[in-house]
Amino acid sequence: DKVIKQLPEPLQLVAKEMKFLTGNLRNLLGSGHPSLDRIAKYYTKSEGKHMRPLIVLLMSRATFACPKSSNSDNITTAAHGRDRGGMMAREREKELGVDQPMSMPSILNDVNPNLLNVGQSPTGSPLTSFAPFPGEGKEDREILPSQRRLAEITELIHTASLLHDDVIDHASARRGSPSANSEFGNKMAVLAGDFLLGRASVALARLRNAEVIELLATVIANLVEGEFMQLKNTAMGEENPGWNKEVLPYYLQKTYLKTASLISKSCRASALLGGADQGTVDAAYLYGKNLGLAFQLVDDMLDWTRSEKELGKPAGADLELGLATAPLLFAWESNSDLGTLVGRRFSEPGDISTAQTIVRQSDGIERTRQLAEDYANQAVMAISDFPDTEAKSALISMAEKTIKRKK
Ligand code: FPP
Ligand code: MG
Ligand code: MG
Repeated sequence: DKVIKQLPEPLQLVAKEMKFLTGNLRNLLGSGHPSLDRIAKYYTKSEGKHMRPLIVLLMSRATFACPKSSNSDNITTAAHGRDRGGMMAREREKELGVDQPMSMPSILNDVNPNLLNVGQSPTGSPLTSFAPFPGEGKEDREILPSQRRLAEITELIHTASLLHDDVIDHASARRGSPSANSEFGNKMAVLAGDFLLGRASVALARLRNAEVIELLATVIANLVEGEFMQLKNTAMGEENPGWNKEVLPYYLQKTYLKTASLISKSCRASALLGGADQGTVDAAYLYGKNLGLAFQLVDDMLDWTRSEKELGKPAGADLELGLATAPLLFAWESNSDLGTLVGRRFSEPGDISTAQTIVRQSDGIERTRQLAEDYANQAVMAISDFPDTEAKSALISMAEKTIKRKK
């Protein structure tokens, strides 16, 4: 317990980078069309927890102290092996324009700028005006400009998925405010999500690192695959209403794709951009994967244990959507009655309250909490070989916070 109290506050270690995050995101999302501009930036107004960028930035700092790769194919990090201070990598990134405002001549500049006057930069088309990194020259030597941009890209992809998710889930609220779909309608919310993905892709391409582009592009596909697994549940469809050994693996695979893929592959990309060696890159990935699984298990548990007021969004929403998550799946193993309800997605009158009664009397919620804790511990174990730095302690602290969070 004493050790835990000594852990640093994660946010403090990357406070400067996090301070600029929202402003940078909004710059990445500037559009010449006033209503697109407004809707695209809508979810950057209500401050989210910014969990993913925080983890990416901490991973960047934690892996700075790790062994470097000698692989010269990794173009932004060539010669980084003997470059502990990151100066050569920084120079190389400058040469590549990783750190440049995105207002330079671009293939996107084929619009008539006279029609557009919102978010216009002094030098370029409003559609390509990406902000430079603030505080140039004074940045943290342990975090490269490309790693800061990666943190922003990760948040953009996450926010895009929320815009689409709220349409699919018919959500009325997010973070205590009206959801984008309820404020602007489904069409606008879907298009805004697509716009975020487009801008994330441009920023990603500007990192000039093919492996990192491949990782984050895979994440976008994984998010859709996870959402499909959730909507079309073949492990517990009408054809197969009995509890079976596919149920939990299917749920965990879905959870990886829907939540852990983004965190794990972003952690991997962060280590790659820093020029880390293979063992470090794999460890970063495993940390993110296990943390992401723990995070979603806790999310699914909170849907059962917290109120709407506490969550800032409707509680018990999963059952309403017909979704069986971990607490119910564990309860189902010992209460076969739940199978019928699962099979018809809790659609008959009384199904939801019956399911609630059975799950609350079972050990499903406790087993979910236990599984989340196991994953959080595995996340910590994954980075046990990292040199002891404050950033490593902060990553351990993030695993703690993930299982202790109440919203
Ligand atoms: C939140 O889950 C949603 C996700 C983690 C991902 C949703 C993915 C898609 C909609 C696929 C397509 C989107 C893109 C941009 C590729 P939740 O509904 O369980 O959580 P919530 O309570 O926060 O709504
Ligand atoms: Mg949702
Ligand atoms: Mg959803």
